[in-house]
Amino acid sequence: MKHYTSIHDIDDINAWIEEARLLKANPLKYLELGRNKVLGLLFFNSSLRTRLSTQKAALNLGMNPIVMNVSGDAWGIEFGDGTIMNGTTAEHIKEAAAVVSQYCDIIAVRAFPTLVDRVRDEREEVLKSFVKYASVPIVNMESATAHPLQGLTDAITISEYAKTQRPKVVLSWAPHIKALPHAVANSFTQAMRKMEVEFLITHPEGYELNKDIVGDTPIIYNQEDAFKKADFVYVKNWSSYSDYGKVLNSDPNWMITKEKLGNAKFMHCLPVRRNVIVEDAVLDSAHSLVIQQANNRTYAAQLVLKKLLENL
Ligand code: CP
Repeated sequence: MKHYTSIHDIDDINAWIEEARLLKANPLKYLELGRNKVLGLLFFNSSLRTRLSTQKAALNLGMNPIVMNVSGDAWGIEFGDGTIMNGTTAEHIKEAAAVVSQYCDIIAVRAFPTLVDRVRDEREEVLKSFVKYASVPIVNMESATAHPLQGLTDAITISEYAKTQRPKVVLSWAPHIKALPHAVANSFTQAMRKMEVEFLITHPEGYELNKDIVGDTPIIYNQEDAFKKADFVYVKNWSSYSDYGKVLNSDPNWMITKEKLGNAKFMHCLPVRRNVIVEDAVLDSAHSLVIQQANNRTYAAQLVLKKLLENL
């Protein structure tokens, strides 16, 4: 594997999950693998989990992580080819990516979508420009359309807590006051489609995700029906894909309650808005796996970094 930009970079999800679980059991086993290697983490957007867990993963492998908030602290980066740079951008990605490659053995990038221009977002300009102009491997720490570190984490967590060979997993939309990206829902869907699970999606009409990602996954518009006999309910808000970036529905009846959840486990990538997405009674109960999920972010990132280091 040269880069980790998508769930599709996972060749065998069951083997990856098994390897991640072994890393979790013995996280310092490969402390020499990353000795004298530098991981650069570039953030165009905010983060708590990704920023800390990816650094911890690097430290567990003996790497030295260095972090930059690109949007706040670096020169404004130009991504257009042939642009006359007489505006607000001061440095072209061609130089920026090549220069960061001089300092880092692996570069990880977070860059969210505009949620205004779908064509531009789907072009994945920031992530793909780093892949193109950097001379070292690139890790996607959430791009315009994908969050593959989160998707891998979620697959690991479901495998840890599954009580049956083929658990029922439901991805449910829930309300939010802001327009949010599709990246987490996309990568979760891609991960579940690679796993031995009964997977379905529930959301209000108008919130259909990209058909190319959903494929033949069943969509049920009635949340209560969708939750019947569910083992895992994975909850996330996303904005409309067809009416791109719009908030079409904020119906509080889609919020996750203890009654709706029943015996299922609750999952969310975090951060989560309490009593908007999910009520306190769920998050504060033993049904919630959100902290265990966040813990697994370290081992998902560690597995990805290990594979990239082994290929350097
Ligand atoms: N789930 C997740 O990516 O969290 P952060 O945005 O805090 O990194």
